[in-house]
Order: sequence, then structure tokens, then C-alpha cells
Amino acid sequence: MAIEQGSGSATGDGTNRFVYVTAALAAFTGLLFGFDTGVISGALLYIKQDLSLTTFLEQVVVSSALAGAICGAAVAGQIADRIGRRRVILVSSVIFFVGSLVMGLAPTVEWLIAGRAVVGLGIGIASVVGPLYNSEIAPPKIRGSLVSLNQLAITSGILGAYVVNYVLADSVVVDALSFVDPGAWRWMLGFGVVPAAVLGLGMLVMPESPRWLVENGRVDEARDVLDRIRTDTDIDREIEDIREVSEIEEEGDVTDLLEPWIRPALIVGIGLAILQQVTGINTVIYYAPTILNSIGFGDVASIAGTMGVGVVNVVLTIVAVMLIDRVGRRPLLLVGLAGMALSVGGLSVAFALPGLSGVIGYVALACLMLYVAFFAIGMGPVFWLLIAEIYPLKVRGSAEGVATMFNWAANLAVSLTFLSIIERLGQSVGFGILAGFSIVALVFVYYLVPETRGRSLEEIEEDLRGSALGGEDLDMSDAAVDRSD
Ligand code: BGC
Repeated sequence: MAIEQGSGSATGDGTNRFVYVTAALAAFTGLLFGFDTGVISGALLYIKQDLSLTTFLEQVVVSSALAGAICGAAVAGQIADRIGRRRVILVSSVIFFVGSLVMGLAPTVEWLIAGRAVVGLGIGIASVVGPLYNSEIAPPKIRGSLVSLNQLAITSGILGAYVVNYVLADSVVVDALSFVDPGAWRWMLGFGVVPAAVLGLGMLVMPESPRWLVENGRVDEARDVLDRIRTDTDIDREIEDIREVSEIEEEGDVTDLLEPWIRPALIVGIGLAILQQVTGINTVIYYAPTILNSIGFGDVASIAGTMGVGVVNVVLTIVAVMLIDRVGRRPLLLVGLAGMALSVGGLSVAFALPGLSGVIGYVALACLMLYVAFFAIGMGPVFWLLIAEIYPLKVRGSAEGVATMFNWAANLAVSLTFLSIIERLGQSVGFGILAGFSIVALVFVYYLVPETRGRSLEEIEEDLRGSALGGEDLDMSDAAVDRSD
């Protein structure tokens, strides 16, 4: 049962506060995603000993969640197009809750793997529908920030997991809690029930996406929702705009994704999805302690450095959230990718030099932090934002699901291969490859990715249609923004 009447209170810029509350809550989907991404590295140290894992089983424990996420992302979009965004978020929170519980209580490694796969399924679903929901409730002027709350939640979830791991590893907190042993991996993994419960309970009272409602003929309900989440805009006009794009075409399904006019958006989404991963962010997120160790830092310093990576990731994501609707998506992506190429290139050079101690060690550390910072300002938030913006309403859920599925699949591929590449070819070559991919991504963005700042989702859709009919090309500049500002 959704809330009948929102607070209606307006902020200084005329935006209804309720939309921020709703978006922040939906961004909990990102928190689950980030928490699980970050928690396993620390927990694994103890699981390995406790359940006597072989290296193979260790990899299965890690990658079962990624495999689950690929499956979740594959189905989430279509289901969200059919039964609505809000219900699917609810389902994902239940799945995540159950999976976390299974992991926390797992008597054997098989149960643990099953729990990880279930949690992965929930994360895969949530990673599609969270940004989708936020893009559809947001007014155009602040859509970038609201959708990017999702990435802020991902990075906060990763940092939160590092903190939970650290605290539960061995600390005064563990000493004080007589029922928790040091290195309590079950508590680390089971802690996921907390954000899952917050998300589930919160979504019970949140409204459905007005765009999905109009698309499904429930115009009165959509008007009620818009009443609650808008103040100074013309709600009738917004409904009319959504209706127009919704009436142009018959009900969409997955096969529509191959239609020529949708293809450019599909290529942009899938391309960015793969490039976000093959430029290597998770080699750093998953293996930061290992990398720091090889730069010459001791164990404790490596853990502290890993926390530093988490903090840089969060802080620069906040900067991106503040900038994204002012400077636009393309500038952030281009600057971010150029910075990533240079910094990870620097890391490659540092590893090629003889001996990494002393000054060169610190230069390498600086490169690592800069690389994370440049990811956080561009590719991190902007990928998730764009795939929630560039697709037509009819197929938005399915198309976003496809892009997200490619993102998880590329994540899995990189996680499974990067360490072997480093073992065979050395760290310098490994990071050099990431620099190469960053340059490829820069060129891809420059030539193919449109600017969406300030435009309504319906205007973006019209542009897509127009360019396919031989009209103007998809806009690569800020010029189009001015008409709706
Ligand atoms: C990526 C994740 C990554 C995270 C790090 C997200 O945008 O999709 O794979 O772990 O950013 O902040």
C-alpha cells in the first residue's frame, strides 16, 4: 500500500522534498549492491580457514554472487516492464534478505555458495530497477543527481562493508559482544539483512513510477503520484508528454530492442556497460590490499589504504552527484576517462621500474587513488545514469536489464582473468591493458554517447526517434539543453 498523500513540502528550487526521500530510499538498492561487493574480500580470509576452502571453492564463493547477478539482471527489466518498478524492488529486498540469512547461518560451503547466488540474484535485480525507478520519478533538472544517489549508495555500501569487516575482524566491539567471535564471517555476511529490511519496509509505502503507470493506462494514479512528488511543474503536461510517447507504439517486448531506431541506444548502453568493467575498477575494489602489498605496504597499512580507496570513492561520487546536472554527463565521462587512462598508465610505468619502495611506491599509491577518484567522478555514476535515461519507455526496463547484464558479465570475466593475466604477464602489462581500455572508452564516449542533461525522458526519446528517421543526430553537445532549462 503506497502512501496516499506526500508531505508536499517544497525545497528552495521548487522541488518537492518527498521526491528526495523516495529516491534516497530506492538508492538502498545500491547499498545492497555495494555492501555485498565489499564484504566478501574481508570475510573470505576467515571463511577460508573455517571451512577449509580450496582456491577453486574460494573462487566459486566469490563468483557465485556475480553469476546470480547476471541472471537477476537478465530477467529484472522485463518483469519491471510487466509488473511495475516498485514491486520488483520489493521482491529484490526479500531475495536479498533471504540470501543474507542463508549465508549467515550456512552450515556448509554448499549452503554458503547457494546463499551468495541468491544474494547475487537480488543484487542483479536491484541494480536494474533502482536507477530505473529513480530516473522515472525525477524531474529533469535534478534527474542526474537523483539517479546518481544510486552510485553514491554503492560506494557507501562498499565502504560500510569495509568498516563492518574491520570492526568484526577483531576490535573492542567484538570484545564487548560476547556472542560474536573475532573474524565472525557469518555476522559480516548476515549483516546484509539490515539494509534489505530497510529497503523492503520503505518501499511498502513508496509510490509506483508515474511513467510506468501511464504506460499501463493508470493515468489517475500517475497524476496522484506526480501531485505528491512535484510542486511547481505542469503535471497535466508531463502526463500528456508521457502519453504521447507511450501511444506512438504498441506494447514493447525484448525483440523490439533490435529495431533500427533503438539500436544506437542499445550500442551505447552495452558498450558503456562493458567498458565500465574492462577499464578495471573492480581489480582495485576487490584486490586493493593485494595491490597495496605489492607496492610495498605492510598488512595493516594495506588495510588502511583499502579504507582510503573506499573513502576516495565515496567523496568523489558526492562531487559527481553535485556536478552532474550542472556540467552534464559527457564532460564528466570524458574528464574521468582521461584521468583514469593517465593514472592507471602511471601505475603501469611504476610497476615497470625496478623496485617499488620509497618515492616510486608513493607515486604508485597516488596513481591508484587518482584512478579511483577519476572513476568515481565519471564512469561510476554516469554509466548507471545513462542507461536509465537513453531508452524509450516501451522497452526501458528490458533494455536497461540487458545493459546491466553485460555489466555483470564483464565484471565476472575481469574478476576471473585479471589475477591470471598479472601472474603470466606481470603487473605492468596488466595495468597497461586497463589504460588501453580507458583510451578505447574515451573514444567511444566522444563519438557515440549523447548528452542528456536537462532534457525530459520524453525529449530524449524523441531525439532517438528523430535521428533514426534521418533527422538530427543524437545530440553530442549542450546546445539542446537550453530549450528545456
Ligand atoms: C560498478 C561496480 C563497482 C562500483 C565501485 C559501480 O558503478 O558497477 O562494479 O564495484 O561502481 O564503486
